[in-house]
Amino acid sequence: MAAIPLSQLTIKQATPSQVEQSRRQTWIEWNRGRSVEEYLRQNAEMDKCSFSTSDRFFTWVLVPRDEPDTLAFLSSCETYRRNIIVKNDSGVKETAGYGIASVFTRPDFRGKGYASHMMRLLHWVLAPHELLPHFPHGIWGSPPSQALGDAAVSVLYSDVGGFYERCGPTPETPGWIPTAQRSTVWPVRTDNVVFRPTSVRWLDEDSLTPLLHQDDRLVTNELALSSNTEPRFTFLPGDDQVEFQIKRYLLSLGDSEIKSPKSFGVSVPEPPSQAADSKSDGEQEPESQLAFAVWTFELKPQPSRLIICRLRATPESFPPILDAALSEARKVGVEIMEVWNLPSEFEEMVDQTGGKTFEREDHWPCMAWYGVDDKLESTNWKQIVKWVNNEK
Ligand SMILES: CC(C)(COP(=O)(O)OP(=O)(O)OC[C@H]1O[C@@H](n2cnc3c(N)ncnc32)[C@H](O)[C@@H]1OP(=O)(O)O)[C@@H](O)C(=O)NCCC(=O)NCCS
Repeated sequence: MAAIPLSQLTIKQATPSQVEQSRRQTWIEWNRGRSVEEYLRQNAEMDKCSFSTSDRFFTWVLVPRDEPDTLAFLSSCETYRRNIIVKNDSGVKETAGYGIASVFTRPDFRGKGYASHMMRLLHWVLAPHELLPHFPHGIWGSPPSQALGDAAVSVLYSDVGGFYERCGPTPETPGWIPTAQRSTVWPVRTDNVVFRPTSVRWLDEDSLTPLLHQDDRLVTNELALSSNTEPRFTFLPGDDQVEFQIKRYLLSLGDSEIKSPKSFGVSVPEPPSQAADSKSDGEQEPESQLAFAVWTFELKPQPSRLIICRLRATPESFPPILDAALSEARKVGVEIMEVWNLPSEFEEMVDQTGGKTFEREDHWPCMAWYGVDDKLESTNWKQIVKWVNNEK
């Protein structure tokens, strides 16, 4: 089949039948050993979670303009709306950022430019049009009629290298730019204990929420206080970001034999020498001394791993956190422990504990910056905008 001219195509929200069809297609890529029915059921369970309800989650399809409800759509993807904090020279602001997932073209439609075009049009769905360059009507026809229009930024994790950089809001402008893609990995062995457990507090699913909300406040304050003037943004760990990862893991267990772990994180008190300066006996741990890690698990593809999706630590609190996470990884029986973009202050400890830091070849975090009230030159933003707390 010859490729359909781009001006005859548009992106739109999938109908329920198109959603189901897209999941039946993506199963082949992301089934991780599950049957089609199991995969559909788990996706339906994810739809019921708070991070998917109301206007937070959508499936998008690229379709011929005159066949909007076709099940033979040309490409598909999903978007999650998240609250983010942006800091720029006018201060901090809570606004919207989007995560993009499951970009997929069925095999017989590949190589015709459909995924690229869908992704280019997706900027016009997500971002305020006044912050984008001029829409190229001459070659693309009219812009998408359905638009969310409130994104300051959108991000995705690329398994296809720099493909998304070529998908800009116009043919001349860049799309999603790869950012920091460092991983630190420890093999999980019986002998890599670095610090005998002190009084760590294990965190189950329920105890995570208040702690992550505390973390949201800290993350916001830290951005407000940072002296950098160039724009920077962070997703809020307590606003679905971490819960999404854990729910996805728990649902993926389905009826498998594997027992779900009880702990999804650990918090530690700061050592007395630090804490004594700022609190008297019996006083509660001040929020600024919060030190913790939250993790999820990925059993497939192998090697299976415990992956830390949020870390707040100091050089003093990092060893017991590392130790606890490794002991949980050992208990669950995964092969490695991983953390993304670990702060450099912990690097020495990585060496001492048998860990290794490297540039990942897959799951590259990529971002497209649109701005808040300011329009940055498209050639300029990729050098200056910073994604803070860029973890899993
Ligand atoms: C990646 C994918 C969405 C591209 O869809 P498409 O409609 O064929 O994309 P386009 O025609 O716009 O662009 C094709 C280009 O994508 C790039 N591409 C496709 N697969 C790639 C891969 N695995 N690694 C790197 N680049 C890749 C190539 O540059 C390719 O150009 P070529 O055909 O000249 O080699 C499709 O191959 C797919 O569904 N793959 C399986 C799911 C997947 O990996 N999704 C991406 C997850 S981040």
